[in-house]
Amino acid sequence: MGNKKMSTIIMSGGTSGLGRQALLALSSNPVHVILLARNEERAAAVRQEVEQAHQTKVSVIPCDMSSMSSVHDALLCIVNQAEPIDVLVNNAAINTPERQVTADGFETMFATNFLAPFIITQGFLKAVGYGNDPRIINVGGPIKRKPDIDDLNSRQGFAQMAAFESSKAALGLYTAYLHRTLQEENSSVSITGFYPGIMRSNLSSGFKGLIGIGERLIRHTLPGPEESGRFLAKLITTPNLSSQYPGLMYNNNGQEIDVPNADDYALQEALIRRANDMAAPWML
Ligand SMILES: NC(=O)c1ccc[n+]([C@@H]2O[C@H](COP(=O)([O-])OP(=O)(O)OC[C@H]3O[C@@H](n4cnc5c(N)ncnc54)[C@H](OP(=O)(O)O)[C@@H]3O)[C@@H](O)[C@H]2O)c1
Repeated sequence: MGNKKMSTIIMSGGTSGLGRQALLALSSNPVHVILLARNEERAAAVRQEVEQAHQTKVSVIPCDMSSMSSVHDALLCIVNQAEPIDVLVNNAAINTPERQVTADGFETMFATNFLAPFIITQGFLKAVGYGNDPRIINVGGPIKRKPDIDDLNSRQGFAQMAAFESSKAALGLYTAYLHRTLQEENSSVSITGFYPGIMRSNLSSGFKGLIGIGERLIRHTLPGPEESGRFLAKLITTPNLSSQYPGLMYNNNGQEIDVPNADDYALQEALIRRANDMAAPWML
């Protein structure tokens, strides 16, 4: 994706934290950002902020990432717009202190942080027309925990950070799976993982108990999301991203970082089979 023509970017989680900062950092680029957002007011505020200051055009498609029918409807909307898409950024995430179950019967973090981006990405690969240099950017981290393939919805027991890490680890495994298979298929689409590092954002705002106390004690020492937002904007706009950043995941210094279980193809394939089964009613 170059800096000259108007490029089209789909981004979830652009209404605060990292995503919002990335949008602000895209200032010198003539880009059309399609925000997938659940909160109309926040989306309108970001839209105004970004469009006022910059060349960026922002559209909003309502999308609650914890509702698979909402995700499905948003995908249909993207397909019907028939605009070639250059970049898909799977950035939205949530971290809930208690086990919550969505209307579809999924644990909320699993649904929002993994199953929704899985459905969107599969739909993107299958049914959306691409621009010239298409790419997917998945925001996650080098999480060591292996998701329990037999209990992805934490029915057997719930611990806040374990469930959060499992959902993000699943996204990391999916990223590794696609990184390998898209290359094997000589696809024009590339995929890159991005680890923004620990930042001050809304993600931890609902933390309770000991985790909440710990978070409030260190919050002021954490960096804001500005620097990571700038690097995410760089990943979005760098031409031929996969030749400049051929690895699986990068931090905001541009260093490649290891993704645990990136070589565990059996685990990845088992996860993809489960995800396909669970997501079947909402896939394009
Ligand atoms: N903060 C950190 O320390 C850290 C560290 C490593 C990785 N990350 C990753 O960075 C990414 C961005 O997180 P952040 O730190 O910027 O957190 P944030 O400020 O809480 O932003 C999260 C974004 O996700 C959106 N979102 C959450 N649930 C949604 C839903 N059901 N439907 C639609 N949108 C939803 C939020 O929308 P609303 O405005 O509607 O809430 C918001 O725009 C996440 O993938 C996170 O895992 C963060």
